[in-house]
Amino acid sequence: MRSWHSAEGIEVRWYPLVDSTNDVARLWAVDGAADGSVVVADEQTAGRGRRGAVWVCPAGEGLAFSQILRPGMPRALWPRLALIAGLAVAKTLEKYAMAAEVKWPNDVLIGGKKVAGILVESIDDAVIVGVGLNVNVADFPEEIADTATSLLRETGLEQDRRILLEQLAQSIRSHASRAERDFPELLEQLRERCALSGKRVSLWLGNDAVMADVIGIGDRGELVVERDGRTEALMQADQIRIIR
Ligand code: BTN
Repeated sequence: MRSWHSAEGIEVRWYPLVDSTNDVARLWAVDGAADGSVVVADEQTAGRGRRGAVWVCPAGEGLAFSQILRPGMPRALWPRLALIAGLAVAKTLEKYAMAAEVKWPNDVLIGGKKVAGILVESIDDAVIVGVGLNVNVADFPEEIADTATSLLRETGLEQDRRILLEQLAQSIRSHASRAERDFPELLEQLRERCALSGKRVSLWLGNDAVMADVIGIGDRGELVVERDGRTEALMQADQIRIIR
């Protein structure tokens, strides 16, 4: 394991191989890691996605990292961090001249394809923001070849993963620190990058597969949809797919 402090004072621990960076970060958080600390790994044996999915990325080609946040806001507002992390990742990618969108709640897309996924978990006094970003991935397995992309595929350029990691970590930490006071402004930035607004989608609500028309993101960060002539505010939905 290599460890260092970024120019902004963020402590980074970079491992060759872990089970899941979220799990390593959780242990470190319990052990007193400072706000913003980052665990990153070249390879994960048990990388997790949302809703029990697995997250796989070829060793050394992506960025799999987890950032420990210690929010200075009431716990009831912590769910905001899941949305804000997606926004922070999208805005960082824009610095590389890429138009990134956020597919609610926090998948990051380029050209309609997923470039990053985010898994947020919380413990007593910390939030673990786990980010999987396809950086220098040239080829994807057939099952996801049509729906996934990487920075390399979009730009033809290999990126320095350490530089990118430090930019992402700084961006997530600074956006998170604004989550209480500046939420309306951050939501506005999210709406400008919303991949779902105006789209017809299929999604799962509990055990039901439904179709809906997305109106946009509401003032609490919820997805506002129209379904069977009624407007609904969704705090949670699974497997959202854009139909048109
Ligand atoms: C998703 O799209 O479902 C979320 C994927 C999150 C993957 C990242 S990789 C780093 C961190 N460690 C994990 O086990 N998962 C997250």
